[in-house]
Amino acid sequence: MNNHFEQKFDILLLDDSVEDRELYKRRLNALAGVEFEITEAGDAQDAYEKAMNCDFDCYVVDYSLPDGNGLDFVQDIIEKKNGSGKNAAIIIVTGKGSEEVAAKAFKMGAHEYLTKKSVSNGFFGRPVISAIERAQLTSQLEDFRNRLEKSNQALSEFTHTAAHDLKSPLRRISSYCEILMEDAAERLNDEDKTTLERMMVNAKRMQNLINSLLSYSLINHEEETPEEVDLKALMQEVVEEYGPQIEDENATVSIGDLPTMSAYRLRLHQLFSNLLSNSLKYKGEHDTIIEITAEKSPSCVTVAFKDNGQGIPEDMREHIFKDFKRLHANEEIEGTGLGLSICKKIVQLHGGKIWVESEGDEGTTFYFTLRPV
Ligand SMILES: Nc1ncnc2c1ncn2[C@@H]1O[C@H](COP(=O)(O)OP(=O)(O)OP(=O)(O)O)[C@@H](O)[C@H]1O
Ligand SMILES: [Mg+2]
Repeated sequence: MNNHFEQKFDILLLDDSVEDRELYKRRLNALAGVEFEITEAGDAQDAYEKAMNCDFDCYVVDYSLPDGNGLDFVQDIIEKKNGSGKNAAIIIVTGKGSEEVAAKAFKMGAHEYLTKKSVSNGFFGRPVISAIERAQLTSQLEDFRNRLEKSNQALSEFTHTAAHDLKSPLRRISSYCEILMEDAAERLNDEDKTTLERMMVNAKRMQNLINSLLSYSLINHEEETPEEVDLKALMQEVVEEYGPQIEDENATVSIGDLPTMSAYRLRLHQLFSNLLSNSLKYKGEHDTIIEITAEKSPSCVTVAFKDNGQGIPEDMREHIFKDFKRLHANEEIEGTGLGLSICKKIVQLHGGKIWVESEGDEGTTFYFTLRPV
């Protein structure tokens, strides 16, 4: 395959007029520093056969052809190109300009649309080069995106397997610690007991971390079918699960009118649960008050999750959505720093965004948008 840096391009000229093809060739050959390997075709059938035998960098296609219109040929070429993975530049040339044809051509994937008049006036070589460059850049971008997607998938599978396999040895470590604490309590001095307690606390922390990692990797790993989810009922369910903690802390949770929408239920359960757990964990000096409201627009739902807790300093608001980013030390308040990263992934899975606002020490409001899936 030629590339831009070699400045040599394979190009196919499809036009039934010999004079017009001569004109295109003259324009191309007049370009300094670029070499073209030019193939000519007088009708779509001839061009298609030639396209089957060569991966061209660019097709210049006359809109009106003796055996059909140029857009049909473009359609065939795009299908072939999709199969070969090569992103060739496609340029449509017409006798008379028509906005409708231009729009159709661009929609189909053409890179440039020129009139024969502008070609006669000398406007040809540069647009061809720029279309080829754009097509090649698009190809590279697609290639990078595919590679990135594959490596993300592999990384997520690795995280999932590693986290899963770490679970059972860790569970055994915890159990052995508990057995030792019970059975050997009389033989242990205070220092031994403190060491053992520290081991148990750290094993618990690691269990939390592994569970968070598993949830994190599951978001894109596990297939879940969308369903009609009553957001208000789901939020109530999550609040009930936190019932004992809410009661102990004398917290109040009010849920406004939240709509029903097509969504991934388990993921939203996790999103609501992470936000609620944060509002209860990072409480302020007063009893916690949490208010959840929503606004619906034709395309999405915006949910506001407001608490009166510790608030988040302005310079940290962007960072809290990053993996493992915490504003509190573990000794202060327990956490793995993955909760909000998981929230962000879930919101993105629903085509939405999540952000936070925090006014001084008046608490924190998390906003997120969700689109039906
Ligand atoms: N409602 C809130 N009020 C104040 N600070 C918050 C709030 N929610 C999150 N934060 C801050 O953002 C940080 C990141 O939150 P995140 O939920 O990602 O992790 P975590 O709560 O520390 O751990 P876990 O993974 O167990 O949820 C927290 O450590 C906390 O400092
Ligand atoms: Mg959290």
